Amino acid sequence: MKIDISAVSFEEAKDLVKKLRHTIQHHNYLYYTRNEPEISDHEYDQIFQDLIALEKKFPSLVTPDSPSQRVGASPLKEFKTVQHKIPMLSLGNAFNNEDLINFDKRIKKELKTEIFQYVTELKMDGLAVSIRYENGVLIQGATRGNGVSGEDVSLNVRTIKNIPLKLFGNTIPPVIEVRGEVIMYKKDFEELNKEREKNSEPPFANPRNAAAGSLRQLDSRITAQRKLQMISYGIGEVEGISFGTHLEILEFLQKLGFKTSPEAAPCNEINEVIERCDYYKNHKNDYPFEADGIVIKVNEIALQKKLGATSHEPRWAIAYKFPPEEAETTVKNIIIQVGRTGILTPVAVFDPVELEGSIVSRATLHNEDQVKRLDIRINDNIVVRKAGSVIPEVVRVLREKRPQNTQPFTMPDKCPICDGPAVRFEGESATRCINVSCPAQVKERIAHFASRNAMDIDALGDKIIDQLVDKKIISDYSDLYYLKKEDLLKLERMGEILAEKILRNIQQSKNKNLSNLIYALGIFQIGKYTASLLAKTFKSIDALKAATEDEILAIGGLGPITAQSIKKFFASNQNIEILRKLKTVGIKMEEEEIKTQNLPLKGEKIVFTGTLKNFSRGEAQDIVKNLGGEALETITKATTIVITGENPGSKYKKAKALGIKIISEDEFKKLITGG
Ligand code: IVH
Repeated sequence: MKIDISAVSFEEAKDLVKKLRHTIQHHNYLYYTRNEPEISDHEYDQIFQDLIALEKKFPSLVTPDSPSQRVGASPLKEFKTVQHKIPMLSLGNAFNNEDLINFDKRIKKELKTEIFQYVTELKMDGLAVSIRYENGVLIQGATRGNGVSGEDVSLNVRTIKNIPLKLFGNTIPPVIEVRGEVIMYKKDFEELNKEREKNSEPPFANPRNAAAGSLRQLDSRITAQRKLQMISYGIGEVEGISFGTHLEILEFLQKLGFKTSPEAAPCNEINEVIERCDYYKNHKNDYPFEADGIVIKVNEIALQKKLGATSHEPRWAIAYKFPPEEAETTVKNIIIQVGRTGILTPVAVFDPVELEGSIVSRATLHNEDQVKRLDIRINDNIVVRKAGSVIPEVVRVLREKRPQNTQPFTMPDKCPICDGPAVRFEGESATRCINVSCPAQVKERIAHFASRNAMDIDALGDKIIDQLVDKKIISDYSDLYYLKKEDLLKLERMGEILAEKILRNIQQSKNKNLSNLIYALGIFQIGKYTASLLAKTFKSIDALKAATEDEILAIGGLGPITAQSIKKFFASNQNIEILRKLKTVGIKMEEEEIKTQNLPLKGEKIVFTGTLKNFSRGEAQDIVKNLGGEALETITKATTIVITGENPGSKYKKAKALGIKIISEDEFKKLITGG
């Protein structure tokens, strides 16, 4: 359904937004919680866009639980502290069968019975949170912190798409705290890290760090851009409902709209528990997220209470931790990779081995110090594993198996790509190629410039960029705009059609937004999000260039390294020349003015008096602002319109005396709805 927003009246919009929100919530649940979408992404986007358009036209209809509000809010200075009324406990660990048998013995001894069940479920590796709902509405989200008190991350959890803002179902307890793990799926983690590496931002070591780093952002707009999910495994404070077993709790949580602990299943015997731990140890890679163990819980709540807890962990549950997978292999080579910022990274290339479900054949050695620490050499036998189960790393060298005549590896003092000097500056661990025209850096910078989130020059792939640089047809990204068809036709596997397509795409990219351009420039530390903040604040490349470090630091969330990096970029004559070339070919270097001509209240200075029937005073004032007017509290000669509700006060008389236009609330409604 595509709604003709311009034809919708305020009254119709009220109903429509409710229906659209309900539909979106339903599809969110099917998509994020059940993994069973019923409509295409395109159809979903269409519905979402209708809601956004309606809320834009009638801002007073925006509510905090609208799905449109999952975009984050202005940055906080710090997180408030939340005291957990019921502590968020940790879990004791079991590393082998013996530990599990001892756990079982202890429980049976304390309960003096053998008639009970265990529940086994996957242990997700993320960050524990507690989400409080009152009368079905999300009112607070907190991290576990030290278990007794955590951080108030309410704004952040609201951006996580599979956390209901409003609970589903017919039984809504007056108070319920839902506890679970905020995680990032492996594929989303990999995507995020690729993006970060492209922007010279340090990658996250594993999905857990990525989830924690993303949730604990003072700027929740950043959290909103990260793909987080929550999987619930229990409850904290609850009123108005009680449960007999842990499995009943999980079932109830599902009815409220939550995804719950995967593979939760009852089991009567500790031997069965052991079998399951063994099974999942070998199948942990079948899951899209990191599972680092199995949690074993006594199912009956009454028995859980009887067993109680120490100050740190419950006596009725334990975590069986999966051992990390390790493999032995042989180093075939140690190569050097050169990145966009010129850093030389040593990489070990070894005989392929299987680890955590995938074949790996290389591992970064990070820098010179790490190579020295490991004393890794070509032909060495090594043990590898995946750090945080994701990134391959060399654990140790098997010295006892070292063949004769191996040579220690030394970092080159020349860049392997351009032969230019490679230098390790004092106090730094990285060795850098300091030749800014190094083809490796040039190629990376051009590829970044053309990438989807930057200037989006489709069809200009890495192979084409490689040839253009190698054949010296281009030497920086501004040269792209001076390319001719003949230049492209000189390349291998290039036909007329592709060449024309590339040139067309290059032309089209001239009109990209300022934020895309800022991101595309490849300034060290400037990712997509920072670029959009800079574009919003400075509105042109010239203003950004002229900005002082203090002005940049005044933007919430940007630090001194970012500010210095921007200043350094604009201090380079080479970069200034590139910008000049971009400007000459007509690249848009300013933020387009938002078209305000058609806003119905543009230029009006409006004062409200009396009680409004349809809006709160704040809502009405927001509407005025959104429609281009100014909402003021007191009447002056400059006031252009006074809007009267019921029982207008002295302002009414003053307006009359000054001869200012006075209209009723109904007339105001007509004005804003175009009716
Ligand atoms: S139950 C009182 N169940 O593991 C019981 N925890 O190492 C509290 N975790 O802090 C936890 N998956 O963050 C439970 N299925 C699961 C879990 C789980 C992951 C985390 C949780 C906890 C930590 C303890």
